[in-house]
Amino acid sequence: MKIDVISIFPEYFEARKLSILGKAISDKVLEVQIHDLRDVTEDKHRTVDDTPYGGGPGMVMMAEPWGKCLDPLVTPESVVIVPTPSGTLLTQALLQELSTSQHLIFACGRYEGIDQRVIDYYSKQCTVMEISLGDYVVAGGEVATLVMLEGISRLIPGVVGNPDSISEDSFGADLQDSLEWPVYTKPQEWRGLEVPAVLLSGNHAQIAAWRAERGKEKTKRNRPDLG
Ligand code: ADE
Repeated sequence: MKIDVISIFPEYFEARKLSILGKAISDKVLEVQIHDLRDVTEDKHRTVDDTPYGGGPGMVMMAEPWGKCLDPLVTPESVVIVPTPSGTLLTQALLQELSTSQHLIFACGRYEGIDQRVIDYYSKQCTVMEISLGDYVVAGGEVATLVMLEGISRLIPGVVGNPDSISEDSFGADLQDSLEWPVYTKPQEWRGLEVPAVLLSGNHAQIAAWRAERGKEKTKRNRPDLG
């Protein structure tokens, strides 16, 4: 999969070199290119924003730098993702869908957002999706893009060593609307707290039943909306 990321803070994406994303890139499963939006500007201040029509606080990212940056990248098969709190909610199912794309372009907005005409224009050339991490606001699209990059890369076959760890995810294929159960590792006793005996029993059916039950309890407690 080819991924282009456009941002005025390319340094955020140094994190792509780490962990699962780093492995997917070095294994050539993913080809990630980071573009600095300001590189297409021609004025001394490398300006990418201006005041909003209609008034109001903050600045809006101008269409022209986005156009110059996107034109050479976009093909009819591309999916342009614009992270924004006003987008559709990111879910595991959406990550799964995105993980099968050939080419993703992340357009990281800052300030009050990107001139709407960029979204309208490229919606006629390819697929454009405005996606939100959740009902809260962070400073820009960079962090949201990193979340999506990591979420997508681990779903690409071969990136995560053991495919069971994907299907057993909270929200994954096996658990669906139930959250993952609590997990334990050595030592067997820590500060007077014991690992539940069933996990030491070697009885796989009992262990599976225990995990399902704890998962259900946790879902009820932490996410009653999923029940
Ligand atoms: N940019 C700012 N807040 C965001 C959010 N919640 N999701 C995606 N992009 C954002």
